[in-house]
Amino acid sequence: MSFLILYFTLLLTYCNCLQIQNLGGKWSLKEASGKYVDLEATVPGGIYTDLMNNGIIGDVFFGFNDNTTKWVPRLNWTYYTNFTVDEELLKSENINLVFDGLDTFANVYVNNENVGETQNMFVQYIFDIKKRLKIGENKIEVRFLSPIEVAENLDTEQKKSYNIPLNCPPDEYNGECHVNMIRKMQASFSWDWGPSFPSVGIWKDVYIEAYHVSTIRYVAVDTTENNNSWVLNIDTYFAGNAHQEVEGDVLYELRLTTVNITRRIPVAQTINEYNEIVLSSIVEFSKDYAVPWWPNGYGAQDLYDLIVTFTPKSATEVSTKTVRVGFRTIELVQDTISSGLTFYFKVNGVPIFMKGSNEIPIDILPEKGQNKTIIKRLLTDAYDAHMNMLRVWGGGVYESDYFYDLADELGILIWQDFMFACSLYPVNENYLSTVVDEVRHQVKRLRSHASIAIFSGNNENEGVLRDNWYGTQNNFEQYKSDYVKLYIDTIRTEFLRLTHDRGLFVSSSPSNGKETEEEGYVAEQPSSTFYGDVHYYNYVFDSFDSNIYPVPRFASEYGYQSLPSFESLLSVTDNASDIDINSDFMNHRQHHPSGNGQMQMLIDYQFTLPATNSSNYSKAFIYYSQILHALSIKIETEHYRRYRGILNDKGQGNTMGALYWQLNDVWIAPTWSGIDYNGKWKMLQYYANEFFSPIIITGHMNIERTLEIYVVSDLLSPVFNVTATIETYKWDSLEAVFSEDVTIDLEAGKSHLIDSFNIDDYLSDKGCGSLSDAKNNCVIYFSLHKKGFDIAPDNFILPNKVKDSNVKQPNVQIETVKEISSEEYIYEIGITTNEIALFVWLDAGKIRGKFSENGFILVSANRTLYFYSEQSTTEEELQGALTITNLLDPQYFVE
Ligand SMILES: *[C@@H]1O[C@H](CO)[C@@H](O)[C@H](O)[C@H]1NC(C)=O
Ligand SMILES: *[C@@H]1O[C@H](CO)[C@@H](O)[C@H](O)[C@H]1NC(C)=O
Ligand SMILES: *[C@@H]1O[C@H](CO)[C@@H](O)[C@H](O)[C@H]1NC(C)=O
Ligand SMILES: *[C@@H]1O[C@H](CO)[C@@H](O)[C@H](O)[C@H]1NC(C)=O
Ligand SMILES: *[C@@H]1O[C@H](CO)[C@@H](O)[C@H](O)[C@H]1NC(C)=O
Ligand SMILES: *[C@@H]1O[C@H](CO)[C@@H](O)[C@H](O)[C@H]1NC(C)=O
Ligand SMILES: *[C@@H]1O[C@H](CO)[C@@H](O)[C@H](O)[C@H]1NC(C)=O
Ligand SMILES: *[C@@H]1O[C@H](CO)[C@@H](O)[C@H](O)[C@H]1NC(C)=O
Ligand SMILES: *[C@@H]1O[C@H](CO)[C@@H](O)[C@H](O)[C@H]1NC(C)=O
Repeated sequence: MSFLILYFTLLLTYCNCLQIQNLGGKWSLKEASGKYVDLEATVPGGIYTDLMNNGIIGDVFFGFNDNTTKWVPRLNWTYYTNFTVDEELLKSENINLVFDGLDTFANVYVNNENVGETQNMFVQYIFDIKKRLKIGENKIEVRFLSPIEVAENLDTEQKKSYNIPLNCPPDEYNGECHVNMIRKMQASFSWDWGPSFPSVGIWKDVYIEAYHVSTIRYVAVDTTENNNSWVLNIDTYFAGNAHQEVEGDVLYELRLTTVNITRRIPVAQTINEYNEIVLSSIVEFSKDYAVPWWPNGYGAQDLYDLIVTFTPKSATEVSTKTVRVGFRTIELVQDTISSGLTFYFKVNGVPIFMKGSNEIPIDILPEKGQNKTIIKRLLTDAYDAHMNMLRVWGGGVYESDYFYDLADELGILIWQDFMFACSLYPVNENYLSTVVDEVRHQVKRLRSHASIAIFSGNNENEGVLRDNWYGTQNNFEQYKSDYVKLYIDTIRTEFLRLTHDRGLFVSSSPSNGKETEEEGYVAEQPSSTFYGDVHYYNYVFDSFDSNIYPVPRFASEYGYQSLPSFESLLSVTDNASDIDINSDFMNHRQHHPSGNGQMQMLIDYQFTLPATNSSNYSKAFIYYSQILHALSIKIETEHYRRYRGILNDKGQGNTMGALYWQLNDVWIAPTWSGIDYNGKWKMLQYYANEFFSPIIITGHMNIERTLEIYVVSDLLSPVFNVTATIETYKWDSLEAVFSEDVTIDLEAGKSHLIDSFNIDDYLSDKGCGSLSDAKNNCVIYFSLHKKGFDIAPDNFILPNKVKDSNVKQPNVQIETVKEISSEEYIYEIGITTNEIALFVWLDAGKIRGKFSENGFILVSANRTLYFYSEQSTTEEELQGALTITNLLDPQYFVE
């Protein structure tokens, strides 16, 4: 009793604010057995960055340094520092040490006493340290274990009952084994596009929080509609480690444009059976007060602040959290049709074709993945390419708050995988329990974002099991039961509980959606085109033949490899001889088994590569690989878009999504990305700007050589009286031999077949030569306009393989370079040609920037385009740096 009186007296006398003491900054680092001592470290950070900064290892992204640093994660590293605690802080009833992210296995010591243990990089760890602190200097130590060693030990333990593959990656990956045993970025042990860097470190913020009663831990919201009202469903989660009860009131302030809505709600909550203290509330208001949030291309991305303030009853401290809310509804529509189920998203009631790509981790070093400059550059590139959805792929990390904030602002919907990929996974008690912690933390953290569209249980693991990737067929029932236990009973159950059954969830990508559920979660054919989403890769068939591609409801992955630019390769080696497709260096960076051979074969279908002994063979290979990459993805994407609202005679189609693999890179290497690790665009990224345009005109040649010309519109309203111009050019002339116009009305959100004819008859008829030879003499060029303005990017169709056609060798030149804006570094570039030129490619060398278009085909004598430099430059400097090339550039054919 006397204690209580004293306590309340103190409360009235001193400030009882919630206190946060950030522990980030300079720390120290040592190797546990004493090999390295007293190194300088930065927190948040990671071991590779710290060792680089100490000069102990070189730049890990350079040369063979991924190989020479393999010892790093095999050691045990300890991060430590001292910090000062004052009297004020120590008075708080609750004092916690909070790690927003620890990678991964660590024992945490405060003043030499163990305060907790960690095992999951995706969990926020909160340790009660009140009794461990003293006024003045305190010491904290985070003793990490080698993740490779831990993974191996866990696997040994697991194998005592049964084996859970994937055990080790293919040799080409040059990676580490048993990453499926641990809750760490799965790609950190290597992937077919990335190096093995199993980092350890404090990769997110670390701080002390102190409070008397409680603090708001998360505010998680979603929006639904109720007739003419928006309903904001709010879950406010409170910290509750020492207090079983939280009493006080919560103030919600929703700042709308013309009105502020406030609600004060009393709270008296106790810890629920899920170890949470949560207040669920609703704020409802007329739709007139808020502008709905739309995906990129469909409207604005209005966001409103919701400020939540908790004032406890028995103390004067307050805690506040703000979330930004976008008002929108989202549905995943899976309606029965004669041939299976549809699979598409409706936002605000409008069916939307999802255009975008797959995002792999922003960086393979998790601390570098927080870099806002890089995130902004990448998401802006996606936005500029008309992307409205990115899939955050399940072998990486749940990205930073900033990533999702920016996605909200740009209208880029996120398909969020849970972090499980291409493997089977354990289901022991400890594993499932840390997965539950992970799901709780990540879903509460992320689900408020307007951009978050759907969660998926994993990447490809339903297929791993059904299609027997790792020889698990003879024990199928065991693995299936494990699969259901992990993704359905654990993750899905927890996800639906947290989202009050309103969150969208599919058990895997790809899956058959609802059909997968009906088949007990491991469908007969997880990649069926009649249900759900599909991943499709084929490196054997001619990738320019659109008849090889499936006709799915939703293509969530598809891709081809290419090499990064010569310039980018030179940024990771200082030996120019390394840049040879057959060098040890290039082989070391090609992780995809047979990757180079596949690229070469696909190139050989279309083009004639120079002789291998020609002096510029490597340059040609790089450039040709990018052409092949860009055109293949263009052809495949346009194929998917052309099936919008169209079913073929098998009942396939109504395709409503095209997310190609992959947006970005984690090192300079041959990969599937459109943007390389230096941020430089490959040809694919330029093409994406065009093939994802709201309106496209595209040609498809069917197996009978009928050319079908489609115009696809994603617009919400019709466009009347549009003119499609179909021009036929002979390869040896810049004057069209024939040109015709087709006038059409475009319906909203629809694909239109506007014309079709046998291409050989057509070309022969229009003056391209005899029936058998016409296809080699001409190219067909499309444009689409209304009232004289282009409303879609120009397009073309190659009637035959280029290597068999009579394409002339053009002389393409840069004629003029003119500064347009000295403040924004914009330059106008004039180019000329004397013949039709294919895949004209400009490069500004070391000057960072982008062209208004690139990799295009040129059917007129001149063209003007723009270069947007990202650095200060001059006309002279740019002129000196600029190069231009085309498919038949003589430089490639010099012996
Ligand atoms: C990688 O390192 C191992 C062991 O040091 C060595 O045997 C191997 O040759 C190296 N590989 C390359 C490509 O440097
Ligand atoms: C790391 O620490 C663990 C636990 O103390 C120990 O078993 C292991 O041998 C250590 N590994 C190395 C490489 O020092
Ligand atoms: C940290 O504090 C301990 C005592 O708590 C002291 O022995 C040590 O020298 C301090 N280290 C640094 C780097 O200040
Ligand atoms: C929505 O409006 C309809 C018709 O006005 C009414 O019948 C229905 O009860 C309303 N729904 C709710 C949940 O208020
Ligand atoms: C809402 O409240 C904020 C903060 O008090 C104030 O700045 C703003 O003007 C208010 N807006 C409206 C529309 O009343
Ligand atoms: C983020 O990346 C940019 C671009 O590479 C770089 O200039 C900057 O130094 C990085 N910032 C941090 C904090 O590492
Ligand atoms: C440069 O690279 C070539 C090809 O990879 C290799 O044969 C040569 O040894 C390298 N030279 C040096 C100095 O590393
Ligand atoms: C359609 O466009 C053509 C060409 O711009 C124009 O001549 C014609 O008047 C337009 N027709 C209608 C109905 O707008
Ligand atoms: C561009 O080509 C056209 C003919 O195609 C010609 O009239 C014009 O003068 C050329 N312009 C330049 C800048 O070369």
